[in-house]
Amino acid sequence: MRRVAIACLLAFTAAIVGGAMMSCTQVKKITSPADVKIGFLVKQPEEQWFQNEWAFAQQCADQYGFKLQKIGVPDGEKLLSAIDNLHAQGAQGFVVCVPDVKLGPAVVKKATVYGMKVFAVDDQFVGSDGAIMADVPYMGLSARNIGKQVGGEIWAEMQKRGWKPEEVGACVPTYDVLNTVKDRTDGSTDTLLALGFKAENIFKTPEKALDVPSAMDAANVILTQNAGIKKWVVFSVNEESVIGTIRALEGRGFTAENVIGIGIGAGQGFNEFKKEKPTGFFACCMISPKRHGFETAELMFKWIMNGQEPPKDTRTAGVMANRENYKQVAKDLGLESLL
Ligand code: GLA
Repeated sequence: MRRVAIACLLAFTAAIVGGAMMSCTQVKKITSPADVKIGFLVKQPEEQWFQNEWAFAQQCADQYGFKLQKIGVPDGEKLLSAIDNLHAQGAQGFVVCVPDVKLGPAVVKKATVYGMKVFAVDDQFVGSDGAIMADVPYMGLSARNIGKQVGGEIWAEMQKRGWKPEEVGACVPTYDVLNTVKDRTDGSTDTLLALGFKAENIFKTPEKALDVPSAMDAANVILTQNAGIKKWVVFSVNEESVIGTIRALEGRGFTAENVIGIGIGAGQGFNEFKKEKPTGFFACCMISPKRHGFETAELMFKWIMNGQEPPKDTRTAGVMANRENYKQVAKDLGLESLL
């Protein structure tokens, strides 16, 4: 009787261990694209940039015939449970823009246990030692260069308008905890300083989040403290943050005549260009959601389907758009639907 009980217990344990091991390995053999399931997880699904990224990832899925699951992951808990769910549904990998880069090790750990492939987009994972996790394939912006482009364009417009450096302030909401966005504002700052902008006239304040209301709050702090400045240039981490700053300036009576704002993004700023009367949103360095959405999904698909490893580090460029040329730039980037 005891022997039977022990045998039963052993069989039961083996079944559990076996089951657990099954769930840690690829159960289903991939014979066609339809067997491939990929997750596309983004930190701020309401942002235009991420909406565009998703749309292009879906285009890729439709073209190749794999399944795509788009999931918003605004915090760590949602992110980790999204990975659990993806695994439960048989997904073999996912592309992710994490809500906090320090979650990188937890993401990699989970993916490893589940035998899933991971590709980081936009925001690069940071390890517990504070170093970039360069082993995880990544696609992001050439952030510093894009920031420099913005700085150069602002200076050129200041020259056109005959603005003297001593009368101009720079209102800059920042978000320095994230490398890819710190590099953008640092790049713009360095370029402006090298061209002759006054260091003491650059005012930076951290914003709580990368959105319009947070930028408005950050900008209002700067504007209250510097009420004497009558001409402003604006640069920041994305379009939303520049638009928020411009709204704060408008609240104090500033207009397109005394504001030069340049964003970084892919669509939100079009609404400013569409307004009949120009606003302080002078231009936008357009980045490519097609590359970040379509191409990352494609790289993940080929990795799963053919074992083709993606490059570890891909950096994408930006192109300047303003009221005059934005329709053409949008078409070149495949963003006609936003016009
Ligand atoms: C970060 C920003 C987004 C967007 C992407 C582009 O994730 O938070 O607003 O600019 O980079 O890669």
